This record gives sequence, structure tokens and C-alpha cells, in this order.
Amino acid sequence: MVRIMSARENILCVGLCCLDIVSLVSHFPKEDTDQRCLEQRWQRGGNAANNSTVLGLLGAKAAFLGTIADSHEKRFLLDDFAKYGVNTEKVVVCKGCECSTSFVILSRASASRTIIHSNKNLPELSVDDFAQVDLTPYQWIHFEGRNVANVAQMIKLVREHNKGLPQGEFITTSVEIEKAKPELEALIPLVDVVFVSKDFAVFKGYSNMAETLEGVKAMAHPGAVVVCPWGEEGASACQGSEVMVCSPAFPPANVVDTLGAGDTFNAATIFALAHGSSLEDSIRFGCRIAGAKVGVIGWEPLRGLLGSGTLLLKKEASLAT
Ligand code: ADP
Ligand code: FRU
Repeated sequence: MVRIMSARENILCVGLCCLDIVSLVSHFPKEDTDQRCLEQRWQRGGNAANNSTVLGLLGAKAAFLGTIADSHEKRFLLDDFAKYGVNTEKVVVCKGCECSTSFVILSRASASRTIIHSNKNLPELSVDDFAQVDLTPYQWIHFEGRNVANVAQMIKLVREHNKGLPQGEFITTSVEIEKAKPELEALIPLVDVVFVSKDFAVFKGYSNMAETLEGVKAMAHPGAVVVCPWGEEGASACQGSEVMVCSPAFPPANVVDTLGAGDTFNAATIFALAHGSSLEDSIRFGCRIAGAKVGVIGWEPLRGLLGSGTLLLKKEASLAT
């Protein structure tokens, strides 16, 4: 199992923050038609930003590190991080840049989320930006799989930092391999915990979770944890030579918003692992929280549903026995 690292509780999420302009429609539109949506909203998005939201909702000390444009959307994004208790002190504000944006179509009929992303000139986080950050407060650093060459260097900096610490104090590293891009593979051998999405798995030619775990385990470092969420089928995970563990999905009565389901699963699983839960309990916790997420619109209603993350973890452990 992943070691419980230390008494430090801070979890840093490194990656994208963008603006999601989300339109809820009754049916996905036909090309070249004109329809009115049921609802439209602005939402802070980006995988790492979403991870930190969920960690904040669970009561973790979450921090976000990434670039944000110095445009008029900046206030909205930073205020929204604050609403979820996410620390943004280390965010790199980029002058003269435009906000990275996604147009998202949520279909009520099919529960699909279709994303059209745009980034005009917002730079990725540099290794220098990362090197400025004091890593001492962090128990866990999660990297979104993007900006590969720089992120590989950042992970190496964390490993260097770990060399100066007693073993029980190491910072755990994780990475999310989500998009169907071959260059992401280079990050797999570098971390303690790898999250591999169904999209990446299918792109690699794997047809189910078990095949994906076998294939990715062979690329990961020995003893690494590999986790694979698979939509309505739930999730599976393995570590080293131990047997694969599985969790079903926990579908809500109505699936209304699947935007960020994977981000929710990954964050909740990290939360559980960081609190010392077993791998099996952790992915079941991830599926349970992701199931709750897809049953509500946006993030805010989760606040009432979740309550204290540590109490939820205790409940999860007692359900398992
Ligand atoms: P992504 O958002 O990256 O496409 P997935 O579709 O693999 O991610 O979903 C991640 C997790 O979210 C799944 O493991 C599952 O637990 C949960 N989930 C996703 N869709 C549903 C659904 N329709 N019903 C219940 N749980 C879901
Ligand atoms: C959801 C998400 C959105 C964002 C998009 C970027 O996982 O992070 O919030 O617009 O993916 O790829």
C-alpha cells in the first residue's frame, strides 16, 4: 500500500486552471442548428483546478499551482478557488495573456460532456516557477499529465527533495495520464501513483481495466500504484505483485453533470490514500464521491452532500469490514 507519509496534510495539485463556459442542453445539437440552452454558467475548470476543488470540499489542505492570465477572468477564478479553501499563493499570474477557456456542452439526454478547449497564449508552468516553491509543507504532489518535459523535471525536483528526508517523510507523487497523447507515457515511470484514464487506455489499445493495469504496470516503477477509472464500470487498481482490486461505480438516481467526474475520482482517491486507507477502500471512496458528483450540477451542491472527508473515510472503512 502507499505509505502514509507524514503528519503533513497539504496536497498540491499542479496543472491547468481555465474558465469553463458550460451550457446545459436537452439534446446534443445537430450541426448548423440554433437552440436555446436550459442553463449556462461560468465554472472554474482544468483538471488540477478541479482536483483541488474536490480536495477542498473533502476538507484537505489543498493548494493549486499553475498559470493564470492577468485578464478580467482572473478575479472570478481566484475567488472561486478561495470559496473551496484552495491555497493559490503560488499561482503564476501571466501578464498580457488571455484566459484559457473551454466551451462545454452538457447533454441532459445522454449525460455526455463535450469540451472544446482554447488556449491562445497562456504559457505552461515552467521548471523555474516550480523550483521557486518551498516543497516542505507538502505531503503529496499531484501532477496533471501535460507540459511533459517540464513536469518530468518538476517530478525530479521532488525526488531530489525527498533524498534529504527520512523515508517516512517523503512527498508522494502522482500523475494523471488522461489525454490520448503518446508523449504522456514518459511520465509513467517517474511517480508513486499513476492514474490512467479510459481514453488513454483505449488509445493504447487496451480494452478493459485489467489489461490497462497490466500494460501500465510494466511501464511504471516497481511498487508503484496504478489506478484506472472506467466510467460507469467503476475503477480498478494494483500495486506491484499484489492482486488487482476493483470497485463498482455508484450511480446516482439521475446522472446530470459528468464534467470533472474523472477529476473527482482522482482527487477523492488521493485523499483516501493520503489518509492511509487501503487501495481497495481508496478507489471505492473515489467511485463513491465521483458518483455523488455526477448526480449534481457543478461543485457547490457537493458541499452539503459530503461533509467531513475524514468521517466519510471512516464510514467507508467500516462498510468494507
Ligand atoms: P472522465 O471524467 O475522465 O471521463 P470517467 O468517465 O472514467 O472519467 O469517470 C471517473 C469515475 O467517475 C468512474 O470511475 C466512476 O466512479 C464515476 N462515474 C463516471 N460516470 C459515472 C456514471 N454515469 N455513474 C456513476 N459513476 C460515474
Ligand atoms: C474536466 C476539465 C474541464 C476543462 C477540461 C480541460 O476534466 O478539466 O474543467 O475545461 O477538462 O481539458
